[in-house]
Amino acid sequence: MSILKVARMGNPVLREKARLLDPTEVRRPEFQKLIDDMIETMNEYRGIGLAAPQVHESVRLVIIGIQGDDEDDDPALKIIPLINPEIAPLTDELVEGWEGCLSIPEVRGQVPRAPRIRVQALDRRGKRLTLDIEGFPARVAQHETDHLDGVLFIDRMRSLSTLTYMDEYARFWVKD
Ligand code: NI
Repeated sequence: MSILKVARMGNPVLREKARLLDPTEVRRPEFQKLIDDMIETMNEYRGIGLAAPQVHESVRLVIIGIQGDDEDDDPALKIIPLINPEIAPLTDELVEGWEGCLSIPEVRGQVPRAPRIRVQALDRRGKRLTLDIEGFPARVAQHETDHLDGVLFIDRMRSLSTLTYMDEYARFWVKD
């Protein structure tokens, strides 16, 4: 596996609409390697999600991390590749929450997102997959899927007044 270079804001690849994948393409070894490399890259940079355009591949593939639930003895992060993801909100409300992005380093901002969603996608074997997710993983899935349409989290902010550097985030915004 390899750690891939992450495109940063300003790179046009982050503003393109990524192309759909077909199931036969998904099963090819090169594509399976791309998935594994993206997982390794996400872990290396301590991300919780990554979209293929962020590693200069303009295809509809994202990786999201979902923390095991509390009742589960294994709180390990489940890492799920989603191919051609389609998101439908399961509620009308939007909730503000903090987001960052490996393509916009050292910055956080508050973004409104649906707190519960249904994701339809293909899994890494090219099989249909439906997931209902809520809370932070739902936020991550929406953020990553936006990357496939050339949308960055700052585009979704209602106001830029919470756009914050990491040091200031830790100093002024994290309540404990
Ligand atoms: Ni991002």
